[in-house]
Amino acid sequence: MKISVIGAGNVGQTTAHYLAMKGFAKEVVLVDIVEGVPQGKSLDIWESQPVNMQDTIVTGTNGYQETANSDIIVMTAGLPRKPGMSRDDLLAKNTTIVKECTASFAQRSPNAIIIVVSNPLDVMTYVTLKVSGFNPKKVMGMAGILDTARYRSFIAMELGVSVEDIAALVLGGHGDTMVPLPRLTTVGGIPLPELMDQEKIDAIVKRTAGGGGEIVKLLGYSAYYAPAAGVVQMCEAIALDKKRVLPCACWLTGEFGVEGIFMGVPALLGKAGVEKILEVKLNDAEKAAMMKTVDHVRSVQAEGEKFM
Ligand code: NAI
Ligand code: 2OP
Repeated sequence: MKISVIGAGNVGQTTAHYLAMKGFAKEVVLVDIVEGVPQGKSLDIWESQPVNMQDTIVTGTNGYQETANSDIIVMTAGLPRKPGMSRDDLLAKNTTIVKECTASFAQRSPNAIIIVVSNPLDVMTYVTLKVSGFNPKKVMGMAGILDTARYRSFIAMELGVSVEDIAALVLGGHGDTMVPLPRLTTVGGIPLPELMDQEKIDAIVKRTAGGGGEIVKLLGYSAYYAPAAGVVQMCEAIALDKKRVLPCACWLTGEFGVEGIFMGVPALLGKAGVEKILEVKLNDAEKAAMMKTVDHVRSVQAEGEKFM
């Protein structure tokens, strides 16, 4: 298993570090345009492996030759948000970066599965699909695991229970219009609405939708520990053919009544990539929220087409 991580900034370096600590990949290649940075960070990670007791080899480069024949490519290159910016404000610049990087890595790894992280996530995944020309099952975006993890962690904190016992799902685009589903959230098998009043649930849903912005406001730049953890969970599900059901940005061809965009839905992840999209019946309020997020992703995608 060879995994290349494009972009050695906060998300890329943390992803490479987690991958090295997990040890399921034989090789991790870290790529960035800044000379010395991917080489230095990867050497530092590699030098921690005797302590980690893992043999995953981590190398860094400013080119793409070393990424040839990757099994998985994680695309993190691009500008992150600064305070006051929305993810959509990154559209023009990141479309150019994602196009350029995809053109460089896709031809060298024609059988790879691509996990996109760059924002605005759903549209950058679309750009990657178009530029790579890959099968849509092999191109996906990471955001739903992050959004769901934020939601689960807030619920665990509020109820004073283990995060392990909270099963949940956040659907939709990666942005303020995302759709957390309290009706389908369970705590040790018990539906959330039986354990928490509506006012608290609404507050958690609101905090989840603004979860990325909350971190940007505190740090001055965007989150990376939880995003990288989400990426590594997807890599592991694919590398070990685990058939995990995880919320991922997938190319929709009629699922949930939607087609022609990437959006967060429950995906069965295995060695072939998105092996299946699982659908769930939504009530009227949930359907209305889904339509809002679909409209939003569609409008950003239409805007993004101008830069392609
Ligand atoms: P960062 O600024 O720390 O790292 C970005 C890296 O990309 C930099 O090292 C930069 O040199 C590199 N880069 C820029 N142009 C490049 C090119 N043409 N080729 C190769 N490398 C290039 O940013 P961070 O925090 O790592 O975020 C990366 C992206 O991921 C941003 O767009 C951010 O908004 C997004 N993001 C998405 C999340 C999600 O849930 N999908 C979560 C967190 C971040
Ligand atoms: C987040 O949600 C910036 O999209 C990134 O933290």
